[in-house]
Amino acid sequence: MKNLILAIESSCDDSSIAIINKDNFECIFYAKISQDEEHTKYGGVVPELAARLHSQALPKILEKCQKYFNRLCAIAVTNEPGLSVSLVGGVAMAKILSVGLNLPLIAINHLKGHIYSLFLDKKANFDMGVLLVSGGHTMVLFVDELGCISELARTGDDSFGESFDKVAKMMNLGYPGGAIIERLAKEVKCDDIEFSIPLLHSKELAYSFSGLKNQVRLEILKQELTQDRKCKIAFAFQKAAIAHIMHKLEKIFKEYKFKRFGIVGGASANLNLRTQVENLCKKYQCELLLAPLEYCSDNALMIARAACEAYERKEFVSIEDELISPKVKNLQGIL
Ligand code: KG4
Ligand code: ZN
Repeated sequence: MKNLILAIESSCDDSSIAIINKDNFECIFYAKISQDEEHTKYGGVVPELAARLHSQALPKILEKCQKYFNRLCAIAVTNEPGLSVSLVGGVAMAKILSVGLNLPLIAINHLKGHIYSLFLDKKANFDMGVLLVSGGHTMVLFVDELGCISELARTGDDSFGESFDKVAKMMNLGYPGGAIIERLAKEVKCDDIEFSIPLLHSKELAYSFSGLKNQVRLEILKQELTQDRKCKIAFAFQKAAIAHIMHKLEKIFKEYKFKRFGIVGGASANLNLRTQVENLCKKYQCELLLAPLEYCSDNALMIARAACEAYERKEFVSIEDELISPKVKNLQGIL
């Protein structure tokens, strides 16, 4: 029976392919090759390097999928948002597979994919709030019972994950910064550095991390950056960044009275953030949904899962379509 969907993800610095059974969401194949090690010495993703590494990694993974080709019913691929030179690798491969195997092609928005990481092996049950925290985005969304998305808040400058990456870069700690900062913050013994929480006195439901990043920069310049100071700065930064997320989130909770709330995106792996959102959900008697830690960061399984619904709705694209758009201004539409 032809009921498998093959999905490709290459929007940033992870090359990943997954195959899912569209009828019961069983994961048939999953692989990911991360480029973290190659980018770490630059303190961030180098687009040209990312593109070259995708062109090596994706064919290597695809080779292992060949035995499933005769059971495929569609090809899916992340087409937006992301680094265009990275997206193009996955999209080109998906188009070739679609033509070569004569299968319909499905284009999936990466952020919608992240939301499906909450429902990898089950039917999606929306009518929920979502905090999306990744390297490229920070937003709070409401998804109604039909899967219609509306945006409640977003960052006006850096994203939550990006601010961890930049703080790690300023202290020469490597890339990606999120897990490194979280680990250093755990080692702190005395927290005598304090950063102010962004937009604390503003009524606006919005996020901003660039001022906090600047506070960190000034603190680094004050005196020698010993290991002890790195830990203290990491701790104080993480504390203020999460306090900022939580401060605005509580205002949103009061207003929207969510039944369910999910946290998605690479930075949703932050255990401090998870605990604080869990406590907020308890306070407002709201069910908390979390993605498995392994699937918080970019992966093709969430893209494959999102493609199951798109397949049922016959949302197919043509190989002649441009497909790639690096930026998405407003996240809208149906999940
Ligand atoms: O979703 P993702 O894998 O890629 C994008 O779509 O951007 O998210 C990657 C981001 C990076 O900025 C990384 O530093 C951040 O997620 N991240 C974290 C943690 N783990 C990953 N940020 C804070 N705490 C973490 N534990
Ligand atoms: Zn992502």
